[in-house]
Amino acid sequence: MGTLVSRESKVSQRRNDSGGAVFGGRNNYRELFQGGQLVFRLLIAIMVMGAMPVWGGENRQLCLACHTPHRAGYCTSCHLGNPASARKNIAHAGLREGKYTRFLTMDAQEQKAGEALLTQYGCRRCHVSAGQGNKMAASLDNAAMLRTPRGMAYSIRYPVAHMPNFALDDAQITAMINRILAGAKTGVQSRFEPVSVHFTATGIKKSDIFSKKCGLCHRVLSSRIGAVGKGDVGPNLTGLFSPHYPKKTESEKMWRAQELRRWLNNPRAVVSGTRMQPVIVTESELRELETIITLPVDTLVNNQ
Ligand code: HEC
Ligand code: HEC
Ligand code: HEC
Ligand code: HEC
Repeated sequence: MGTLVSRESKVSQRRNDSGGAVFGGRNNYRELFQGGQLVFRLLIAIMVMGAMPVWGGENRQLCLACHTPHRAGYCTSCHLGNPASARKNIAHAGLREGKYTRFLTMDAQEQKAGEALLTQYGCRRCHVSAGQGNKMAASLDNAAMLRTPRGMAYSIRYPVAHMPNFALDDAQITAMINRILAGAKTGVQSRFEPVSVHFTATGIKKSDIFSKKCGLCHRVLSSRIGAVGKGDVGPNLTGLFSPHYPKKTESEKMWRAQELRRWLNNPRAVVSGTRMQPVIVTESELRELETIITLPVDTLVNNQ
């Protein structure tokens, strides 16, 4: 208590020491500010208005130094990029090219076509897009936020080892990316980390039944033992037992252990003329296969 009081008194003492001068100075300043206040406010207002679109802020979109407008609205609201620079390389940083901007204006039919491709190639057996799919690889809703469309196109054209190379053409990739971008707007809730399977070497049993009997021709992302198999002759079996595994026909049922058993015994009895030969597996091997292929419930995202 004592120290507090004495500190207080020191402060008031100091105030008294220089009291007159400080008071007088502050008064002068206040006068000056009051006199200039109107001019000052006007200046601020002009600056703010200049930055607003209706008052000519649009001109600050230096994109217009090189381009002529072709649609109403800010260039950058559709194409991103940096409107503050008249230098192409800087202005185009993070640019969304015309063909990847279509998702903002495309009609329902175009949306459907992109969606059909995602389904046909079974992208959602590994990825979540528009809030649906398996969490076995990066969320595409997330990628849409973090990566440029061109970067995503590169990832699809030159896929990592455990993503199949679908040998898609430019039009297909463009359609898919527009669908992914459109879907990301509704898939906000699915921005999560994927199950870390593909890059963790630990836990992979070299002698697992998949590597031994299927891995020569197939690959699979297993949340239990990681990325196994190194064959690309047969389809990637990730999420085989999930609703996102590509079906050959609309009416086809989801794969389950029972269908897999029938398939392995005699593939041609299921799909006539298929290239896969029968593979002999024991009952316990089949059960082990099942645990490798089956995805835990928390890797399935299906909001519908
Ligand atoms: C210095 C001039 C310059 C500025 C500034 C500039 N661009 Fe460009 N832009 C070009 C040129 C030239 C091309 C032709 C393709 C190329 O050379 O990259 C182009 C191409 C484009 C394309 C088409 C790319 C494609 O493949 O579909 C888009 C979209 C685009 N610009 C948007 C913008 C936006 C948005 C801004 C402002 C943020 C901007 N540009 C600023 C010069 C410029
Ligand atoms: C409402 C969204 C939107 C706005 C705003 C917009 N664009 Fe585009 N832009 C598109 C779409 C979509 C395409 C793809 C071509 C198409 O379908 O019309 C495109 C294509 C382009 C292209 C490529 C043209 C080609 O032949 O492929 C350029 C360059 C471009 N825009 C520049 C601009 C500039 C510069 C501005 C600002 C003055 C701008 N855009 C504003 C949506 C937009
Ligand atoms: C068998 C699983 C699998 C399938 C099927 C698959 N991918 Fe992938 N994809 C991956 C893996 C693994 C990566 C590497 C990124 C990661 O670690 O998640 C990847 C990466 C990507 C990326 C880059 C993502 C990023 O965050 O950088 C895109 C985009 C992509 N895939 C799109 C597709 C599309 C489109 C399809 C369908 C045509 C597809 N993928 C099918 C496994 C798959
Ligand atoms: C010698 C190569 C080879 C081996 C070994 C092999 N497969 Fe296949 N598998 C294929 C080929 C090729 C196809 C594609 C058949 C077609 O499209 O006609 C296929 C198709 C499949 C399909 C159907 C998938 C679909 O999308 O239609 C399943 C399921 C399957 N294999 C499971 C397995 C399992 C499980 C094993 C291990 C027990 C295994 N395969 C071993 C070559 C092989």
